[in-house]
Amino acid sequence: MFPKKPPMGFNTWNTFGENISDAMIRETADAMVEKGLLKAGYEYLVIDDCWSRRQRDPVTDKIVPDEKKFPHGMKAVSDYVHGKGLKFGMYSCAGVRTCADYPGSFDHEFLDAETFAEYGADFLKYDYCYKPDYVNGVNLYRRISMALENCGRDILLSACNWGCDDVHDWIRSTGAGMYRSTGDINDSFVSFRDIFLSQIENAKYSGPGCFNDIDMLTVGMRNRGNVASTGCTDLEYRTEFALWCMFGAPLMLGCDVREIDGDMLQLVTNPYLLRINQDEACRPLFVANKDWNSLRYVFARVLTDGEIALAFTNLTDDDAELWFALDALGLPVSAKKGLRRTDAFTGEDAGVVKEDMRVSVKAHGCAVYLAKVVDA
Ligand code: GAL
Repeated sequence: MFPKKPPMGFNTWNTFGENISDAMIRETADAMVEKGLLKAGYEYLVIDDCWSRRQRDPVTDKIVPDEKKFPHGMKAVSDYVHGKGLKFGMYSCAGVRTCADYPGSFDHEFLDAETFAEYGADFLKYDYCYKPDYVNGVNLYRRISMALENCGRDILLSACNWGCDDVHDWIRSTGAGMYRSTGDINDSFVSFRDIFLSQIENAKYSGPGCFNDIDMLTVGMRNRGNVASTGCTDLEYRTEFALWCMFGAPLMLGCDVREIDGDMLQLVTNPYLLRINQDEACRPLFVANKDWNSLRYVFARVLTDGEIALAFTNLTDDDAELWFALDALGLPVSAKKGLRRTDAFTGEDAGVVKEDMRVSVKAHGCAVYLAKVVDA
């Protein structure tokens, strides 16, 4: 499947880990609709690891759902999810076991792709644990992609090899629709900061058809659940979400969406930030200015219709003024042009600047603007 824009949805792993169930998935599907998440674009509901029995069925060799967690089987869950207007995602692994030690799809790729098609899956996250040493990892993503392309259903392949083997060089050629480029996120500022910083150079390896996936969001987790760590402040969650949007990353929510409300719900449905993320040109961001210590950045991104997104990102522990010269965008002083800006967090007109732009940004904060070129 060839996604034209960064896929958006929810994944069970960050909050629920192995504590997944039929009821929890149905409640999540309800919440995604009732809270306006589906309407905002979050369409995939993905069940991550730990959904199956520990062993394949001895007769059919198929992976079988754990009947304690999913007593009505997976098709019933998928039907419910589809009935809500959402798309349904499943999880497996290129190795012999999944990362949490359930059956993997190694040498069962075509059988498992058929099983996922029977469930009505629209998305498959495909992990990389327990890969036999003698097997070439690239080939395993080719196999599952081939199996999915020929299973009779349109299923988006979400590769997850954590950035190993220079994945960005070859993953698009396999047919995958997105690919994880980093290790696992946890609910902390340091975790999302380092993941993001590690991929700035690789923003160019992302675009329609195959998106660089910098992992599921921890926004709104409030340090509860499977990947809890130090937790984040609301300001830090705003920075995380803004950066994922600026990057054009897939937006997979990892918090308990049954409980998301108020500021966090507003944040993840912010129409300006989502417009940046979902811009159809999917151009990479670039650095318009960078501080000497490398942790203060102004990122820019050229959007369609002459719009420019700007993110003043202060990843240091001190408040600071960040700036860049408009020339860095291709607006030299001689052009006599300025930028009219809209604050992406408030939707307010932030006026016109020329020559350079300066913004005070709190420690760990991020200010985001949508800008248009005007005569000045
Ligand atoms: C990891 C993967 C996580 C999650 C986990 C499940 O390899 O990066 O996102 O899927 O496995 O065990």
